[in-house]
Amino acid sequence: MPSPIQNKRIVLGVTGSIACYKAADLASKLVQSGALVDTVLTEAAREFVSELTFKSLTHREVHTSLYSPNSNLSINHVALAESADLIIVAPATANTIAKIANGISDDVLTTTILATTAPIIIAPAMDANMFDNPATEANVTTLIGRGFFIAGPAEGRLASGLMGKGRMIEPFDIMGAASMLLGKDGDLSGKKIVVSAGGTEEAIDPVRNITNRSSGKMGYAIAEAARDRGAMVSLVAAPNHLAKPIGISVTNIQSAEDMKKAIEDECLEADALIMAAAVADWRPLEKLDSKAKKDKSDHWSLELVKNPDIVAGINSSKLIKVGFAAESENLVENSKTKIESKNLDFIVANDITAADSGFSVDTNRVTIIHPDGTTEVLPLMSKYDVAHSILDRVKSGF
Ligand code: C5P
Repeated sequence: MPSPIQNKRIVLGVTGSIACYKAADLASKLVQSGALVDTVLTEAAREFVSELTFKSLTHREVHTSLYSPNSNLSINHVALAESADLIIVAPATANTIAKIANGISDDVLTTTILATTAPIIIAPAMDANMFDNPATEANVTTLIGRGFFIAGPAEGRLASGLMGKGRMIEPFDIMGAASMLLGKDGDLSGKKIVVSAGGTEEAIDPVRNITNRSSGKMGYAIAEAARDRGAMVSLVAAPNHLAKPIGISVTNIQSAEDMKKAIEDECLEADALIMAAAVADWRPLEKLDSKAKKDKSDHWSLELVKNPDIVAGINSSKLIKVGFAAESENLVENSKTKIESKNLDFIVANDITAADSGFSVDTNRVTIIHPDGTTEVLPLMSKYDVAHSILDRVKSGF
């Protein structure tokens, strides 16, 4: 299944902020995802970036005036508004937000926004004091009330050199918001899907733990793909280095026991549970309160106890349960045994011996094994595409 951005007409409105340089990256990412991007630059934006930047990235006309004789906007000033599947204003200054909130239409961007029925993402970028100003707060509240999706801003270092809330969120996050809005009526809308990701950490003492090599990438890809098909997604995530995906509720946990509690809570109302996490099979019998000293002896034995099997313990007839199996030998045989013992609808087996699949990489090569013994060997794909293949099979079980 392609990204919901593919073949969509997206109007990218760029307004006058130093964060304009990030808008060029966003335009490039949208084009790479298959969108047709019509860029609109405000007069102030043109002080920061040129028409040529966006023309080169999008291979399409860049709009700056309603009256240019070369533009079809001079004949039909709402042409962009009518053709857009989605409008993204990134960066959005306090001034443009104020104009939109008050229905002003004095340039291409504000006219297009006033005349469209497409969903609109606003990614504010401004000094923290401007964002905190009651006027901006009121304007943002007005836009939220009218159904605009306000993406950010983030906290961090601002162009003024000060720290505060006002940084435009990263293009990756704006892409996430775009996928979510364009996919919201997808084939999983109305379904709640719980996904686990990452490798649990089992504490030995306050500084040491037992963990594994899971990066969390497969679980995050499943969560994003389900969001992009309209599902309500809860991600239960063991420690990892991945950015929090927009539009997904994330519960961060550490140990297998924490994960079990979080998953039990989330599954009360869920339609599917996809257990991509690498749950530690064992944990230290006790967690030491202070750091164990190394100078006592040359040997140290840790007593381990078995962790509960999370997915096996979740039992609800209406819940589709999908497990993962990371195997280095007898992939199919071992996976079949797990389907039975964990009462799964199907299992996704990874070959972790290949360099281009399994841990840490962005691609995966999986075999899907069903309870009746049928196996489907899928080719090497991006983890996002593997995620869609898994969701196709989850959907057919609903
Ligand atoms: O038995 P094994 O660890 O290979 O099973 C893998 C599957 O079972 C994965 O989906 C994993 O998330 C899940 N699992 C679990 N609780 C455990 C161990 C594994 O839910 N304690």
